[in-house]
Amino acid sequence: MNKKILVTGGTGYIGSHTVVELQNKGFDVIIIDNLSNSKIEVLDGIEKITGKRPEFECIDLCDESQLSLFFKKHSGISSVIHFAAYKAVGESVQDPLKYYSNNLISLINLLNQMKIHAIKGIIFSSSCTVYGQPDKLPVSENSPIQLANSPYGNTKQISEEIIRDTITAKQLENCISLRYFNPIGAHSSALIGELPLGVPNNLVPFITQTAIGIRDQLMVFGNEYNTPDGTCIRDYINVTDLAKAHVIAVERLLKKITKKNFEVFNLGTGTGVSVMEIIKTFEKVSQQSLNYKIVQRREGDVEQIWADTCYANKELGWITEISLKDTILSSWKWEQCLRTKHTRF
Ligand code: UFG
Repeated sequence: MNKKILVTGGTGYIGSHTVVELQNKGFDVIIIDNLSNSKIEVLDGIEKITGKRPEFECIDLCDESQLSLFFKKHSGISSVIHFAAYKAVGESVQDPLKYYSNNLISLINLLNQMKIHAIKGIIFSSSCTVYGQPDKLPVSENSPIQLANSPYGNTKQISEEIIRDTITAKQLENCISLRYFNPIGAHSSALIGELPLGVPNNLVPFITQTAIGIRDQLMVFGNEYNTPDGTCIRDYINVTDLAKAHVIAVERLLKKITKKNFEVFNLGTGTGVSVMEIIKTFEKVSQQSLNYKIVQRREGDVEQIWADTCYANKELGWITEISLKDTILSSWKWEQCLRTKHTRF
């Protein structure tokens, strides 16, 4: 089996953890990233964990000529895992064109080059945001796609459609679209983790930055939702567990054991956890109390969502292994490492 995998966005949060798991399984990884939301030092972390430095090219996927040169230079790529995209929901509402042009043009350029170089399969980094607020919980892969509530979410929906149409036209053979729930945590070594630029949008990095003193106070966006404690419910999945699902998906493509040319899997734990439960878990594992206050709801938040993981568990033979407590502890350890003098980030 040819084990050379292109990972776009491979120095990013989920990308870097996936590169680690791929290399641990003997895959040769080549990363394309434009470092717009990541740091080159992530490669050092990957190398320390796995003993191997992945190949790296600093390329913007929107630059078709650079991408074309890349594919001419690197032959023998068997599959692509496509992470590279902008991902801040709020920013996408403020600047939709930035999101549509970056997330869609990069995908189109990539698919074009894959067509030219006869690379048959892609793993696509999608999101549970495509389900909006589902009528039925937990949400399965057959739940209806809802009108996107942000340009970011829309780029995920449109990207899936672009890939489907490319497959229908026989210009690409296979895609596995992985719809993530809420990835959190860091590698257990604390050598790689999430590196939010500026003020974090997501809950867990905001919590750890508040606890370490970078932010004054966490704002909890609403506590009068129709949930047991009034705060929103999400399915928080450990990033290493999530990364491992990508390795299984790549193997599935390469072994040609997919059931359909376009497959979709929900990647979550199957358990819904509220914002308050995350705060309480953080306080327990870090042994400190968190400064937070309840404020107004954040526009666009769904009330509750968690995954039906039966299909992914059965078909991929994959289950999440790392507990919420250990996951939150890994985020906290990572935050502490980031802020020590020795860190390079
Ligand atoms: N929250 C707060 N305070 C904060 C940040 C978040 O209370 O400072 C709350 C949110 O209101 C929400 C929960 O924490 O109830 C989780 O919020 P996140 O921003 O961490 O995650 P989201 O569920 O909003 O978004 C995530 C990904 C998106 C993806 C979406 C799909 O970041 O990329 O899940 O549901 F589209």
